[in-house]
Amino acid sequence: MSDLFLRACRREPVERTPIWFMRQAGRSLPEYRKIREKHSLTEICRLPEVCLEVTLQPVRRLGVDAAILFADIMTPLEPMGVSFEIKEHVGPVIHHPIQTADDVARLRLPEWEEALPAMLQAIRLVRRELAGKTPLIGFAGAPFTLASYLIENKPSRDATRTKEMMYRAPEVWHALMDRLADGIRGWLAAQVHAGVQAVQLFDSWVGALSPADYREFVLPYSRRIFEGLAGLGVPRLHFGTGTAMLLPQLREAGADVVGADWRIPLDEAWRRIGHDCAIQGNLDPAVLLGPADRMERAARDVLARAEGRPGHVFNLGHGVLPDTPVANLERLVEVVRNGLR
Ligand code: CP3
Repeated sequence: MSDLFLRACRREPVERTPIWFMRQAGRSLPEYRKIREKHSLTEICRLPEVCLEVTLQPVRRLGVDAAILFADIMTPLEPMGVSFEIKEHVGPVIHHPIQTADDVARLRLPEWEEALPAMLQAIRLVRRELAGKTPLIGFAGAPFTLASYLIENKPSRDATRTKEMMYRAPEVWHALMDRLADGIRGWLAAQVHAGVQAVQLFDSWVGALSPADYREFVLPYSRRIFEGLAGLGVPRLHFGTGTAMLLPQLREAGADVVGADWRIPLDEAWRRIGHDCAIQGNLDPAVLLGPADRMERAARDVLARAEGRPGHVFNLGHGVLPDTPVANLERLVEVVRNGLR
């Protein structure tokens, strides 16, 4: 069993640094594109056998040290009563953006086993297939990032409308975050009960906030999710982009592993997070679009900045870019496997 990933999350010593990629399923893999010719993203999530297949594809092709369940951060919102579509090359678009307390009150808290049975079945299938080989990560979007999709009428990285709600209608904001936090906690717990061996909370766009706003408007909700999962015994990972100034606050939310994007050197990020917490990251995904020797140097630089300390999970600083050559992903796995020898 390659439990390197789980051991590194717990800051136990490992023979070599484990590696996996955010957004490793889909995107750049030709075998995924082939399946997408026949099935939409939503369909894949409703067909356990197909979901199993796309979850396994990057493990087979790249030999990464963890699988991540194929789903989307939007997946649990549909059973919560939200109607949306995922526009190609754009991202999720909500049909009726949330504006008022009534809109928030309409968000349901489903029984997750009944709401998304195909996803939970896919988890069981993946576990059976990967037993003794590769651990499976479950995930969800964090309350802030989901709230920003629900409020803005199109994907936005500066979160202006979202902040407007925080400042102008704080009671609506807090009710929304409260409901999302309960929903996400339940969805992650259901994934753990079905068999995922770690969970990652994606707060992709939280870097739009100042540390003070993060503390006031976001931290209590992300913390509630991590606290609610603490007793389940699986490592909890937390990731956002543009978070160099927020790393100490993200740490306070209580995850076991905090992700860093590429805008901050890994050693500096780890100092800010604290060496008593594991770190994940942080090669710039765009480096994989360049020449191999440059990529290798950059990857070795990330490894060197971990300074041999236990508790480093190698990853990109954000998801794999859609046009990344698969050969570069394969090469990167090899480089990290060989380490700094
Ligand atoms: O990591 C994995 O490989 C598992 C699957 C996964 C998907 N989305 C599948 C997907 C994961 C972990 C996600 C998370 C996700 N989704 C995030 C957080 C991570 C990040 O990148 O910041 C966010 C912000 C989303 C929202 C979202 N969904 C976006 C921005 C897009 C891209 C739109 C596009 O066409 O580029 C999606 C769609 C999506 N989710 C795709 C995949 C494979 C691509 C579209 C497709 O295949 O139809």
